[in-house]
Amino acid sequence: MAEILVLYYSRSGATAELARQVCRGIESVAEASARLRTVPPVFPQSEAAPVPVPASGPPYATLEDLRETQALVLGSPTRFGNMAAPLKHFLDGTASLWLSGALAGKPAAVFTATQTMHGGQESTLLSMMLPLLHHGMYLVGLPYTERALNDTRSGGTPYGASHVSGAAAAAAALSEAERTLAQALGRRVAALAVQLAR
Ligand SMILES: Cc1cc2nc3c(=O)[nH]c(=O)nc-3n(C[C@H](O)[C@H](O)[C@H](O)COP(=O)(O)O)c2cc1C
Repeated sequence: MAEILVLYYSRSGATAELARQVCRGIESVAEASARLRTVPPVFPQSEAAPVPVPASGPPYATLEDLRETQALVLGSPTRFGNMAAPLKHFLDGTASLWLSGALAGKPAAVFTATQTMHGGQESTLLSMMLPLLHHGMYLVGLPYTERALNDTRSGGTPYGASHVSGAAAAAAALSEAERTLAQALGRRVAALAVQLAR
């Protein structure tokens, strides 16, 4: 059995919806299951402990979640062409895992949501990969054999799943291609994790 951590930050719900579709893809693979986690927002006094449990949605991630699971799918809204601070803040706290090599050799993939079509999806996805490479993770993308990658008129890239939310992020549903590609990404990571676990 391979358990895949789906770890995301989302303020208005677009990245959260992508995360749920990634989980559906993971759960469609035999012997794979998804563990959904989020991270708290950061505040000017960000070292102060946030409430330990979010008011709604999945629990906050801990380093144990990263240690215990066999793969990682990481999601963030795009903020000025890069990942959001809360996720970066969490990743900056993973030095002990880097020192011990706890994530080395595990598969990983990334996803993002932007407001606009050319608002930096690819720069966000590629920069989200950098800390994962430092951890020695095996990066998984989306190949053009996924037909939706050729057909999409909104999100979906070879570097990871994505969604163009528009101005009213919460209201914008994923397009069919975005949904299909998010599920495909989850499936691909899960299939690799299961194979590596054997
Ligand atoms: C501080 C800030 C910076 C942002 N930067 C970008 C950007 O560079 N490009 C873009 O298209 N959207 C940008 N957005 C919009 C969000 O990426 C977009 O609304 C996204 O869908 C939100 O995801 P969420 O619903 O998961 O929070 C930014 C939003 C904020 C608050």
